[in-house]
Amino acid sequence: MKTIRDIDVKNKIVLMRVDYNVPLKNGKVTDDLRIRASVPTIEMLLEKGAKRVVLLSHLGRPEGKRNKEFSLAPVAKVLEKLLKVGLVGFYDLPKQGEQIKIPASFKVALLQNLRFDPGEEDNSAEFIKNIIDAVGAEVYVQDGFAVVHRAHASIDAVKEYLPVYAGLLVEKEVKNLSKVIDKPEKPVLLIIGGAKVEDKQPLIEKFEKLADSIVVGGKIAADGYKASSKKIYVAEDFDENSEGAKLDIGPVSTAKIASMVTDAKTIIWNGLLGYAEDPAYATASMITAEMIGEHVSAETVICGGDTTGFVENLMKEHPNLSYSLVSTGGGAALEFLLGNKLPGIEAIQK
Ligand code: 3PG
Repeated sequence: MKTIRDIDVKNKIVLMRVDYNVPLKNGKVTDDLRIRASVPTIEMLLEKGAKRVVLLSHLGRPEGKRNKEFSLAPVAKVLEKLLKVGLVGFYDLPKQGEQIKIPASFKVALLQNLRFDPGEEDNSAEFIKNIIDAVGAEVYVQDGFAVVHRAHASIDAVKEYLPVYAGLLVEKEVKNLSKVIDKPEKPVLLIIGGAKVEDKQPLIEKFEKLADSIVVGGKIAADGYKASSKKIYVAEDFDENSEGAKLDIGPVSTAKIASMVTDAKTIIWNGLLGYAEDPAYATASMITAEMIGEHVSAETVICGGDTTGFVENLMKEHPNLSYSLVSTGGGAALEFLLGNKLPGIEAIQK
């Protein structure tokens, strides 16, 4: 994969795909992991002399219609605070044949939600070509790791018009996720939690060959998951509320997971072990996150939106915790781990 390290961007206008599909509450960003994760690539492009970096992203699923609820405006404000250059220009998507005139004072600009136009999800070559022409882009950087599993115009069709290079986030995600599936150091431990067994089952099946042990916790275990092999340990005790709902895994299971974490050399964790939104039922997830974050000699990958959000918050309180990768990719990371071909990765120059 060719990355921005391999190219000359001096005096060039760079178009860069990011994934700023972040949660919003009352018009404010509530989790800025994906925005922070894009900063090193933007800064490196500017350090390498790029004339300007124009960012493209989607937010939510507005289904090809302009809907203020899904505006990227709040994201531009957060980005401005994170970047050394300060001001970030924010522009509507160009109409057919329209030029976007960005003043020289804006070294970084963000365009409005790509999914306000049906061309993005239709993988329309004309749609992305119009954007390329409107901003005068000469180089294309793919750094939206969390969306590389979608064959959309800014991810796939774009390769017809510009060579695509990986940004530093895509490089880091691909490197770390590859490490845990291609000849990982043993013992390999997969920890699965969350609620939707149908989403996790393919990962469990894939890791039945790769992993030495698999733990199943969370609602999946509470709902009675049946292990299909000796490698799989399903949580055996639970903390219940007054109505008898199993909302966290219990101390016996948590202690068992802790000892498996200590023994492992490669750990992949996807899915919370209990209903961790309520601190009363976050104990197993917290202990597991701490054990993994303190196990610095192991390769450790955290993935899945809820799990990464939980771990990020914990890291704010406990800065000593560290992980090889807290993945920004939800569905994309899962598909990568399953070994599926991802359009956004396929589009990058080799
Ligand atoms: C994500 O958050 O997983 C990505 O941004 C992809 O979003 P999508 O599932 O709406 O395509």
